[in-house]
Amino acid sequence: MSTARSMDDVRNAAMRELSARAVNGSEPSATGGTGEEASVSDRLAVSGAPGGPMAAGESGGSSESLAQIGGVLFNRQVSTRYWHLAVSAPAAAAACAPGQFFYLRCGDDGEPLLRRPMSVYQMHRGRGELHFLYAVKGAGTTRLAQLRTGDSLDMVGPLGHGFTLDPDWRGVLLVARGVGLATLGPVAAAANRMGIRVTAVLSAQTARDVLSESYMRSCGARTLVVTDDTGTSGVPAMRELVAGILASEPIDALFTCGSQRLTALLQEMAAERGLPGQAALEEPMGCGLGVCYCCVRPFAREEGIEHLRVCRDGPVFPLAEVIMR
Ligand SMILES: Cc1cc2nc3c(=O)[nH]c(=O)nc-3n(C[C@H](O)[C@H](O)[C@H](O)COP(=O)(O)OP(=O)(O)OC[C@H]3O[C@@H](n4cnc5c(N)ncnc54)[C@H](O)[C@@H]3O)c2cc1C
Ligand code: FES
Repeated sequence: MSTARSMDDVRNAAMRELSARAVNGSEPSATGGTGEEASVSDRLAVSGAPGGPMAAGESGGSSESLAQIGGVLFNRQVSTRYWHLAVSAPAAAAACAPGQFFYLRCGDDGEPLLRRPMSVYQMHRGRGELHFLYAVKGAGTTRLAQLRTGDSLDMVGPLGHGFTLDPDWRGVLLVARGVGLATLGPVAAAANRMGIRVTAVLSAQTARDVLSESYMRSCGARTLVVTDDTGTSGVPAMRELVAGILASEPIDALFTCGSQRLTALLQEMAAERGLPGQAALEEPMGCGLGVCYCCVRPFAREEGIEHLRVCRDGPVFPLAEVIMR
């Protein structure tokens, strides 16, 4: 009999969780209201990706509240599409791990109503700083771009499960596009600190959009830039490039974020070579906390298809489990 969780199971679990929350105000369970889920503070202490070894020294461990007010240090437009936001938030910077995200209030007048999820682009624990790299798309990010030095930023986080790095790995390959350019930044930094070699393939419309290249390089990564306007970012060209890297370098794991077609390609290439991988997913979110179930998508797990919440069970998942849409 399949142990897969159907959408009905997921909805029923949501109802149980919401009832429990209404009764005792507790943090809802990610596992169907069985009570085995960690508390919020415990969850911060286990912020590795599911099923893998923890990156030593990279996990959060704070019991601080998830609600934080960051002081804006700067908020600069760094290309036609992207902005770089830095905030002073020592507790949050100390608690977060690569791949986790913050749920940001974009306007203090309730517009837009819902917070917007943003991955951590850089974390500087010594300086107590968190950095975000974001593309202005709609109402929320337009409001974010209006923040000025000295303003307050209302943040909830760090949220979700981040990436895992195994200290025994010799090298990792990062493949990022769009939002993924921000999300994979902390992975390069963490791998570098652990002595793991990083090769990063950064894909964008034009070279001017590859803003994380200098940061990745400063983290010791070997970077390769592919762009739409040079015809180097298509799937056939990427397949050739990745195959060459995997044939010539000691790569023990693949990481990706920001592109469905690149995720599908890496999934195929990792499976062919028996390599593990991790993918950070982006899904429109309602609550960001595991309560509303608007971010649920199916995953191919050993037991069968399981419906999981991207905000709470991810946003980082084993590459092999991601079901492409
Ligand atoms: C875990 C996570 C981490 C993220 N990290 C970053 C980041 O580091 N930098 C960054 O620029 N963006 C990131 N995003 C995407 C970012 O949250 C959205 O671009 C943002 O919410 C758009 O808000 P808006 O009000 O400006 O646009 P909206 O008006 O809400 O939407 C504008 C357009 O973007 C689409 N969109 C909105 N939200 C998402 C989403 N979550 N996924 C895909 N498409 C969406 C909408 O369908 C619409 O077409 C992340 C998303 C998630 C889920
Ligand atoms: S459960 Fe609400 S956004 Fe994931």
